[in-house]
Amino acid sequence: MEKSFFLPLFLLFCLIAEDVVSGAPKRRTYDSKNIDNRIVGGYNITIQDVPYQVLLYVQKGDMIEQCGGSIISQTYVLTAAHCLTGASIVYVIAGTTEADSGGYEYTTELFTPHPLYNSANSDYDVALINIRDGIKLVGSSTKTVKLADADSTIAPGTKLLVTGWGLTKENGSVSNNLMAVQVPTISNEECRKAYNTLTTRQFCAAVPEGGKDSCQGDSGGPAVATDSGVQVGIVSFGEGCARPGYPGVYIEVAKVRSWIEMNAGV
Ligand SMILES: *[C@@H]1O[C@H](CO)[C@@H](O)[C@H](O)[C@H]1NC(C)=O
Ligand SMILES: *[C@@H]1O[C@H](CO)[C@@H](O)[C@H](O)[C@H]1NC(C)=O
Repeated sequence: MEKSFFLPLFLLFCLIAEDVVSGAPKRRTYDSKNIDNRIVGGYNITIQDVPYQVLLYVQKGDMIEQCGGSIISQTYVLTAAHCLTGASIVYVIAGTTEADSGGYEYTTELFTPHPLYNSANSDYDVALINIRDGIKLVGSSTKTVKLADADSTIAPGTKLLVTGWGLTKENGSVSNNLMAVQVPTISNEECRKAYNTLTTRQFCAAVPEGGKDSCQGDSGGPAVATDSGVQVGIVSFGEGCARPGYPGVYIEVAKVRSWIEMNAGV
């Protein structure tokens, strides 16, 4: 299942209404009930730990879908293509730990999913969002992330830091506080036991016992190699969340790097 998350309809009105009236909108109004669980099996962090992380609210008809993304330049955010299927407006929130307050908010209708995106197996699940007037890059809470080079590879066992405001457990609720989890990558051969449609643009990460994963609402967010700080993956999908034997699937940045460069100039 793709890892974007539809917010209840009433939240749409909070988002839109307060957008219009105030510069410091209260974007979401309910509390996570799962405060003992994180992203899934993760822990609280602050935006200063991952200043490249952004929160996306994507308007699709009269629905709002939550995703994550990363700042890759002053004018571009990287995310997953499935987050933008059927989208009309994208709200990008940068520079805040808490989903419901603070930070900088940008509204845009300019986004480009990868032309080869395949919704059946989530191949090429990557997209760019353009913020024409530029993101305010202040360093401590908003900063660009370095992307993996096109010729780089990911060895199985590479430790990843995955972050977002997504569900803190399968079928749970989204988190108001930014969460992180560390998971190691596994080989594609191993991962094909769970997902036989896996392509060479995709890789997986999991601990064998399960319990640590990204989840709905984290889609499009960054998976960064902990030793280098380089973004190597984009959160894409998984069967449930954190189930033993069902790793999280990511798009490999290196394999779509030339498309990113051609379209975003970075
Ligand atoms: C994580 O942050 C939330 C919101 O501030 C808080 O309620 C919760 O107790 C924190 N949990 C931990 C383990 O720090
Ligand atoms: C989550 O919901 C789906 C669909 O209702 C169900 O199949 C699945 O078992 C649920 N997972 C958990 C952990 O409750």
